[in-house]
Amino acid sequence: MFYSENLIEEVRMKNDIVDVISSYVKLQKKGSSYFGLCPFHNEKSPSFSVSPSKQMYYCFGCGAGGNVLTFIMEYENYSFPEALKYLADRVGVELPQQEMNEEMKRQQDLRSRILELNKMAAKYYYYQLRTENGAHAMEYLKGRKLSDETIHKFGLGYSNKYGNDLYKYLKSKGISDELLAQSGLMNVDEKRGMYDKFWNRVIFPIMDVNGRVIGFGGRVMGDGKPKYLNSPETRVFDKSRNLYGLHIARTSRKKYMLVCEGYMDVISMHQAGFTNAVASLGTALTSQHASLLKRYTDEVILTYDSDEAGVKAALRAIPLLKEAGVATRVLSMLPYKDPDEFIKALGAEEFQKRIDQAQNSFLFEIDVLQRNYDMQDPQSKTAFYEETAKKLMTFDQELERENYIEAVASRYGVGFDALRKLVNRMAMKNVSIPKTTVKIKSARPEKDEGVVKSQKLMLTWLIEYPSLYLLVRQYLKKEDFSTELYETVAGLLFEQYESGERNPAKIINHFTEPEEQREAASLFNTTIQVETNADREKAFKETLGKILTYSLEQRTANLDPTDMKGLQQIIADRKKLTQIQKIRVDFGEQ
Ligand code: UTP
Ligand code: MN
Repeated sequence: MFYSENLIEEVRMKNDIVDVISSYVKLQKKGSSYFGLCPFHNEKSPSFSVSPSKQMYYCFGCGAGGNVLTFIMEYENYSFPEALKYLADRVGVELPQQEMNEEMKRQQDLRSRILELNKMAAKYYYYQLRTENGAHAMEYLKGRKLSDETIHKFGLGYSNKYGNDLYKYLKSKGISDELLAQSGLMNVDEKRGMYDKFWNRVIFPIMDVNGRVIGFGGRVMGDGKPKYLNSPETRVFDKSRNLYGLHIARTSRKKYMLVCEGYMDVISMHQAGFTNAVASLGTALTSQHASLLKRYTDEVILTYDSDEAGVKAALRAIPLLKEAGVATRVLSMLPYKDPDEFIKALGAEEFQKRIDQAQNSFLFEIDVLQRNYDMQDPQSKTAFYEETAKKLMTFDQELERENYIEAVASRYGVGFDALRKLVNRMAMKNVSIPKTTVKIKSARPEKDEGVVKSQKLMLTWLIEYPSLYLLVRQYLKKEDFSTELYETVAGLLFEQYESGERNPAKIINHFTEPEEQREAASLFNTTIQVETNADREKAFKETLGKILTYSLEQRTANLDPTDMKGLQQIIADRKKLTQIQKIRVDFGEQ
């Protein structure tokens, strides 16, 4: 069922958010907002806020947020249409049987058609594994000590040797080439036309949290390359927002989750009884993964491979998890390489012991740091303590900081008092340096991720200071926001500002997935912290410059040589970029 924007907006407007949420959460007025205990995570003091003027809610503790529709979806575990129906009934709005907005229908339709197609493919692969053709694949899985139950539970399958097997099957079911091309299941090239992406591989269907098949991984049986082939991202498959095994792990009721590197590790751990294991999908853990994890757990135990790459991956994941409010420990699999090998060699009980012994992530970081220093050399040793003190300084809470100082001191044979003095001296020094800019969190190796942050920040700027729009529209179009969600929000926000409107809750209506609503809501509830007006201006220009630079790079790289208009735009934008430093920024009234 698809409903028009106007209708959704009508239902939303008639349901005052304070009224609705009050029947679930005890709210108290404080200033212009209401506060209460967050229903989406455990807390003792209220960090859940409801704003009557924005008609939105936001939890400063766990990041849950959205409009009244989001709230009902999340609280009652309703789908979007269910929540809409519930709220429409509540205020006596009648929903028509069939009403739709064309674009919404097309998009929703494409999504559900790809999901349907994936389900068919998964069933087909599953079936192939159990035929004569798939016998050697079954043998391979058995050789890796997987039980029938496990193979079934993860829906494992096999893709035939012939390069167009699945293609022929899906065509016989009347699926169009157009849809197949968008499904990620096929390769297309000029010579051969369309053919199966996966052939002669063991197939791992990838499920989202709700158990819908969103993509596939395929492993060669033996030493071929690449070892694993994964579906490309599609309309339904976003690698940075899904974790393999999460649909099972979320129901495991353990107080922590195990995060590992791969398909086989997840499966081995589940088979050994650790049904709280998940993996990112052939990519590094992202901040989106971290917030996804935070929805289901407060603690993660990293079970990455024991090699250098695994250590690096852990060092990258730890700050992301910390930022999302997830405590992290790191498990050592030594002398084995990964959970799969460890469990095969030593069994579940030993693995549980390693879980219990998993190291606090901060101490893990310090251990890794220490490897770079020669502790026999006084100068090098001092440098190590200084570096460690710098890290210890990041704990804001005194008690926590003292506890860590104590732990580090006893571990590395330095006096507690000496280390504490060092930390405090550094902290003092740091205070006198004024905080210069917005907290743009430390640059990540992946440039894209940094730019995405800038884009997010820009939206927050625009929301906090609407008068910036007059300036920004001369520099940016919605297409300059490279993430789909940000592009949509930018488009809607620009539209509103063009018509002199400012209605954040309406923007949230455009997203039907709670994850997206939450992300969009966070844009409206982030405060930009700057000390002085000059800092503010500098930070803003920096953000604008980063986004425009990135957009120019992308457009230049993808420019069609015959596209004169595109080229002219690039030249014009390059010129604008050089002038950003000179513009005067008017932040207006907040
Ligand atoms: P590993 O190389 O550690 O493989 O890759 P593994 O999980 O131990 O697999 P087995 O035990 O040899 O079967 C870890 C993860 O990295 C991704 C996959 O998600 C894999 O599970 N990967 C690895 C790829 O996507 N492509 C590759 O070619 C290799
Ligand atoms: Mn392995």
